Amino acid sequence: MNENAVNEIPKVKTLPDAQTVTEVTHWTDRLFSFRVSRPQSLRFRSGEFVMIGLMGDNGKPLLRAYSIASPNWDEELEFYSIKVPDGPLTSKLQHIQPGDEIILRPKPVGTLVHDALLPGKRVWFLATGTGIAPFASLMRDPETYEKFDEVVMMHTCRTIEELEYGRQLVENLVNDELIGEMVEGKLKYYPTTTREEFPHMGRITTNLENGKVFDDLGIEPMDPATDRAMVCGSLAFNKDVMAVLEGFGLREGANSEPREYVVEKAFVGEGI
Ligand SMILES: Cc1cc2nc3c(=O)[nH]c(=O)nc-3n(C[C@H](O)[C@H](O)[C@H](O)COP(=O)(O)OP(=O)(O)OC[C@H]3O[C@@H](n4cnc5c(N)ncnc54)[C@H](O)[C@@H]3O)c2cc1C
Ligand SMILES: NC(=O)c1ccc[n+]([C@@H]2O[C@H](COP(=O)([O-])OP(=O)(O)OC[C@H]3O[C@@H](n4cnc5c(N)ncnc54)[C@H](OP(=O)(O)O)[C@@H]3O)[C@@H](O)[C@H]2O)c1
Repeated sequence: MNENAVNEIPKVKTLPDAQTVTEVTHWTDRLFSFRVSRPQSLRFRSGEFVMIGLMGDNGKPLLRAYSIASPNWDEELEFYSIKVPDGPLTSKLQHIQPGDEIILRPKPVGTLVHDALLPGKRVWFLATGTGIAPFASLMRDPETYEKFDEVVMMHTCRTIEELEYGRQLVENLVNDELIGEMVEGKLKYYPTTTREEFPHMGRITTNLENGKVFDDLGIEPMDPATDRAMVCGSLAFNKDVMAVLEGFGLREGANSEPREYVVEKAFVGEGI
């Protein structure tokens, strides 16, 4: 037998729909991001989510919804994740290392997609916590800048360190060879904290209602004729920000009926 034959045997994938972890970055003790191989057949629209997970102790896949944080042109897939101390999935997922395998069901779905919005001049990406994940994809998608003259990314977290993933992403984007020129002058990043001193503070709802964000960025208040919005955060955040958007005259859209704004849950539940 040829001595090299054993090396030529492809690695046996042990999990169903297995993908290999290529990179893991821990941002805080509650947040991490990771990259995995992308199934060749997987096509998705920026802003969509898929089911990913690990094999549970009972031998059945333990899957959760995750927004794809990478743009659709990326060769790999990126995810940005919470670490819930007793969470069935993330208590284990937080320990993955490059070379490990995760399960990824290649069926992307979701409402935070360009097709669900009517054409407009300016699009608002409104996110709390890990809700920035779908916008990490949309902010890196050339279609966003082809469709809109201005993109405003409002991201609010409790503390400064929780903003870091988004901050670095925006910084790298502006210097990116592929998309940097498209982004320049169009992307306005407006991060705020609510529980730690920072140049810009306050909830997204408050900064929209009192007009502070419009003053700070030097733009007109939201107008349904020109402004579109995509929302991703906790149930409470989504509910409150929807009321604010409706107050400006924007109406909720869907894939089947595009309108002025769309919403997706960043997670389901009461709290950690
Ligand atoms: C459409 C959709 C997209 C999602 N995309 C992401 C994503 O990109 N990144 C991500 O980290 N999670 C995302 N989630 C949440 C994710 O599906 C899981 O809930 C999360 O991975 C925790 O799994 P778990 O099994 O450890 O705990 P679970 O039993 O699922 O959750 C336990 C509790 O932790 C809290 N929690 C769960 N997820 C979060 C979160 N992201 N931020 C703050 N608190 C949370 C909730 O209070 C929940 O009740 C998404 C959920 C939905 C519905
Ligand atoms: N164990 C820990 O160390 C720890 C640390 C942080 C969070 N947690 C828990 O983890 C869960 C998720 O935390 P998270 O920080 O990712 O999400 P979160 O509690 O939803 O907060 C994220 C950001 O959204 C803001 N926000 C919350 N509700 C809002 C609303 N209705 N309208 C507008 N803005 C709103 C928060 O502002 P405010 O600060 O004003 O609420 C915060 O800046 C929470 O249940 C929390 O109790 C645990």
